[in-house]
Amino acid sequence: MNNPTEDEGCAGCKATTSPKWRQDFPIEWEGDHYVSRREMVKFLTLGSLLLALANWAAALASRFLHRGSRAERYVGSAASLEQTGSMLFRYPTNEDPCIAVRTPAGKLVAYSQVCTHLSCAVVYDKSENGLFCPCHHGLFNLEGQPIAGPPTRPLPRVQLQQRGDQIYAIGLEA
Ligand code: FES
Repeated sequence: MNNPTEDEGCAGCKATTSPKWRQDFPIEWEGDHYVSRREMVKFLTLGSLLLALANWAAALASRFLHRGSRAERYVGSAASLEQTGSMLFRYPTNEDPCIAVRTPAGKLVAYSQVCTHLSCAVVYDKSENGLFCPCHHGLFNLEGQPIAGPPTRPLPRVQLQQRGDQIYAIGLEA
């Protein structure tokens, strides 16, 4: 068996004396001075500034997109609403179900069909004279206010406009 040379012996000594983690993750301590505290603060400040700018841009973009999505949209004919008592439509986008109702007093109202409890679809219940949510038996009156069951927030109201026999959605009140 050969004895290790002096160099090999020292290398062997280092390997056995240094901890295992240092062998697995050799760190160049001499490189530490490359990231000074000042540079770190600069990096964090610039990073925060960029995040704030991105946030501001996203808020601005969503505001304009939101405005665009509230364009006027055809709901249906008043005659067919008279027959059925209620009518489903989508507003402001195809992903937003809504319901229009002709109240017993003859008033035309419309709301988002998404229940403010856990987002089930509400339906018009003539016998209760309100909008009923079958998931947890929530009930909203025809003013959109919760009157029974777990919902506590009113339904978002859709503004309608009737022109002759045609009904249009023209806005959404949060
Ligand atoms: S989701 Fe409508 S009452 Fe719960």
